[in-house]
Amino acid sequence: MQNPERLVLIIFGASGDLTARKLIPALFSLKVQKLVPDRFIILGTGRTAFSDDDFRKKMKESIKLYSEEKVVNDRDMDEFANSLSYIQMNNTSEPDYEKLKVRLSGIDDDCDTCGNYIFYMATPPSMYPVISENIALAGLLKEGKGFRRFIIEKPFGYDLGSARELNRKLHSLMKEEQIYRIDHYLGKETVQNVLVTRFANGIFEPLWNRNYIHRVEITSAESIGVEERGGYYDSSGALRDMVQNHLLQMTGLTAMEPPSSLEPDSIRNEILKVFQSLQPLREADVPKQVIRGQYTGSTIRGECVNGYRFEKGVDRESRTETYVAVKFYINNWRWGGVPFYIRTGKKMPTRVTEIVIYFKKTPHYLFQRAEGSLVSNQLVIRIQPDEGILLRFDMKEPGSGFNVKNVNMDFHYKDLADIRVPSAYERLLYDVMAGDPTLFSRNDEVETAWKFIEPIQDAWKNNPEIKIYGYPAGTWGPSNANDLIEGCGLTWRYPCKNLTDDGLYCEL
Ligand code: BG6
Repeated sequence: MQNPERLVLIIFGASGDLTARKLIPALFSLKVQKLVPDRFIILGTGRTAFSDDDFRKKMKESIKLYSEEKVVNDRDMDEFANSLSYIQMNNTSEPDYEKLKVRLSGIDDDCDTCGNYIFYMATPPSMYPVISENIALAGLLKEGKGFRRFIIEKPFGYDLGSARELNRKLHSLMKEEQIYRIDHYLGKETVQNVLVTRFANGIFEPLWNRNYIHRVEITSAESIGVEERGGYYDSSGALRDMVQNHLLQMTGLTAMEPPSSLEPDSIRNEILKVFQSLQPLREADVPKQVIRGQYTGSTIRGECVNGYRFEKGVDRESRTETYVAVKFYINNWRWGGVPFYIRTGKKMPTRVTEIVIYFKKTPHYLFQRAEGSLVSNQLVIRIQPDEGILLRFDMKEPGSGFNVKNVNMDFHYKDLADIRVPSAYERLLYDVMAGDPTLFSRNDEVETAWKFIEPIQDAWKNNPEIKIYGYPAGTWGPSNANDLIEGCGLTWRYPCKNLTDDGLYCEL
């Protein structure tokens, strides 16, 4: 890999959590791997009055706490800290952007960073329009002398209207090519590996369609609750927080047609086509195709756990969903009639994200099945943890007769190489520096995803009688989510920590 061009990365919200937990540790790792440009400055901005040294000290502490590097040594940390600088500013004050401009041109002169700037919005989303406008007014988004890139984090709006408004605003200030919208799931190695699994192997493609696939299930379960983010989460909920972005992007990669090349727009065009083919839900379909839930207090491994309504920052009467499961269809030749099921939830039994392809049964089954064994082949693409792939198929049990049992064939990503798998932020930050937008959401993808979500939001808003089911913290969500699954006796998979296990009782 070639190092990106020399540049300054300006982080707005540099004293916040995202910077400390994700951005700085990822940038540190890139530096250790020598994947940053030879001239590379990180300029933190924020309201807090830090000197450069205070900022360096604070960032070194975050590296110690959150770095994923196996060994963190002082020399690497000092070297990294030398590239850190800080400027105190108020995001809403125009004159402060003039100060920023002067500081940046000083850095360019001293460090030869060639006027290449990347602006990272590690701030609440409500600040994106104000900051972008002020940066633009100061002339800092105008390319010419160097490149100017602008990174924002999800959520990109809170519904279709606000997403359109945000895009309109950004497009009035810069070109779409300058905007990098981070959906950190796309930065995960194993999410990218979905593309490789599908398109580097000849064996899957002939089966990857409505003729052979019975249903597709995508789960992203978390064992944590809302932690310190109750305030944000209560106005968002699982649908906005996880489905509109991460789960739909995984759906896109699972369902897309082979792209013609690895050009950024080839892949993104194919994902967009999947989003455009999602069968629109009508408000009236919502109670039948969407189940929402909220965790209630319970005891997990002997410890009392609060219900969602008792979390910090959450309304005591909140009707915000911490769990959502959706059944939908993709109206195209490949997928017509195949149900897709996606679900996500907080305070579930374990943290697991996976894509499960259920193949159709054979047309005529000859054998006896061992009790409880499955009736269809499954391909499980495990995104996290125990990243890997599992194929489940039938084999004869040794002995007389033809008793058949389901067996597992598994590949674990960790067996592939002894290297640490880079974090999503490492990959994404590297790609922005290198100017590769492939793994970032484009404006039309974002808006089309919101369009699909909108009827669910409307139905919940307009019909308060649509139930929100309580589920005890530490369980798999409302049991009636199983009713979504078409077919007698079929349920969701109940994955375990280890890829090769499943069922309600397993290591979590
Ligand atoms: C974030 C959501 O985008 O993704 C969080 O806002 C969620 O609520 C997180 O916890 C999950 O990410 P990961 O990488 O831990 O699966």
